[in-house]
Amino acid sequence: MKALATSTLFWLMWFSSHIGLKCEERNFRIKMDEFSVKYKVRDLIQHIDFRIVNLNNRSYVNGEMIVNSDVNDILMHTTMDFWKTTTQKKIKLYDGRLDACQFLKTSHRNGLFKIYVKSFKKHVNGNLACPLKMNFNYTLTNWHMDERDLPPFVPLGKFRTVTEYFTQDRLALRIVTQGKVLSYKTN
Ligand SMILES: *[C@@H]1O[C@H](CO)[C@@H](O)[C@H](O)[C@H]1NC(C)=O
Ligand SMILES: *[C@@H]1O[C@H](CO)[C@@H](O)[C@H](O)[C@H]1NC(C)=O
Repeated sequence: MKALATSTLFWLMWFSSHIGLKCEERNFRIKMDEFSVKYKVRDLIQHIDFRIVNLNNRSYVNGEMIVNSDVNDILMHTTMDFWKTTTQKKIKLYDGRLDACQFLKTSHRNGLFKIYVKSFKKHVNGNLACPLKMNFNYTLTNWHMDERDLPPFVPLGKFRTVTEYFTQDRLALRIVTQGKVLSYKTN
């Protein structure tokens, strides 16, 4: 029953992000409370730092990363949990692995992820592709989720994502984000 609800919600989001009622004002906003590196391998990651700026009811993420050697393969494991405000019950929205290099290269079938990657690429300097270049300062500037890229009906609540990046079968990086979907009065 729970699994059914989860996958239903996920496909609903996927489906509506494909239809994309883009022009309508959304009556919710995404507020990020955390975007942090919880684990990193120091011999591979020379420098990494992310910061959240809240401005005009939007959360922006700025940061930079420098790696110590060219990175040719990246496997990503992402989980996303969601707690609806009304029920407070935890829903596992997503738990999946994917080849990040392949993913950056080809446009993915999954609507939500495509949006994610597109927006990241827009806010990163240089070419976000494999191999990641050694000693290059990858800088993320004012990255945010545009709520108009999301489905029109997103439940209010709180989310948490954990993303682990593996390279050469080794866990290199773990990033945790937390935030809320808040209601927002339009006009
Ligand atoms: C931010 O949200 C508050 C409360 O909903 C509103 O009064 C204010 O006008 C908003 N600011 C901007 C820049 O949208
Ligand atoms: C990376 O580039 C950004 C933006 O130009 C700069 O603010 C930051 O200091 C640089 N970081 C390092 C470690 O060089």
